[in-house]
Amino acid sequence: MNQPVYIVGAGPGDPDLITVKGHNLLAQADVVVYANSLIPDIMLKVCRSDAEIIPTASKTLDQIVEILIERSHSQKLVVRLHDGDPSLYGAIHEQIIALAAADIPVEIIPGVSAFQLAAARLQVELTIPELVQTIILTRISGRTHVPKSEDLASLAAHQASLCLYLSARHVVEAQAKLLEYYPSDTPVAICFRLGWQDEKILTVPLSQMAEVTKSENLTRTTLYLISPALRNRLNLNSERSQLYNTSHNHLFRPFI
Ligand SMILES: C[S@@+](CC[C@H](N)C(=O)[O-])C[C@H]1O[C@@H](n2cnc3c(N)ncnc32)[C@H](O)[C@@H]1O
Repeated sequence: MNQPVYIVGAGPGDPDLITVKGHNLLAQADVVVYANSLIPDIMLKVCRSDAEIIPTASKTLDQIVEILIERSHSQKLVVRLHDGDPSLYGAIHEQIIALAAADIPVEIIPGVSAFQLAAARLQVELTIPELVQTIILTRISGRTHVPKSEDLASLAAHQASLCLYLSARHVVEAQAKLLEYYPSDTPVAICFRLGWQDEKILTVPLSQMAEVTKSENLTRTTLYLISPALRNRLNLNSERSQLYNTSHNHLFRPFI
């Protein structure tokens, strides 16, 4: 029986934002294969001093998979550490398939995605009743092609809380597509390296999204949060959830 490979979500960069299970696996691992371009080294401070630490920024997927398979065959406890949550833009699909073909079981430990830390930092609910009830996680087409049916302009038509990953290099095009449906004064939080030492969050009107991104030179590790909910930050007169309304009874509070 081959040793499982643990695909662990590291969270956005703050070492306190990994799950307990992910932390424990990282602390026990014989081998940690990690995406060093997106995960700060501080995340590895819990690793054993004799653990084999393998950065992957300069490796191909085939090389990474080969390492995972070889170390698993050697009965090592292998952690494949991905930034944020592995299910989002983590290219884990290809790794899972290759590991399954090699008869190696996989366990995935979820992580906090960048959009969740963005909402926490901004102290905002992305699903304010009557205002917005849908969150879209997407990216613009780049080297990775986005299916036509998910074109950014068509998603913008929903005017939902939209979390835009992997798009800073194409921000002019992204802004133009968003402006087809969102009002130009819709707030956009430009979130650079959330959870890292040099984290920066700038909230601007949609019409300035590209200009500010460029003037701040934000090309990598930037998430955009476009949402009508950002207008309501600290507005105490804004819509209240029916869940806490005294006239709204439910299973756990039937008789108010
Ligand atoms: C390859 S994707 C991985 C996303 C990751 N799996 C997640 O759940 O957050 C990398 C992109 O995610 C976003 N991202 C990841 N970590 C971030 C962070 N700490 N701050 C801001 N954006 C981040 C950026 O859009 C970046 O270009």
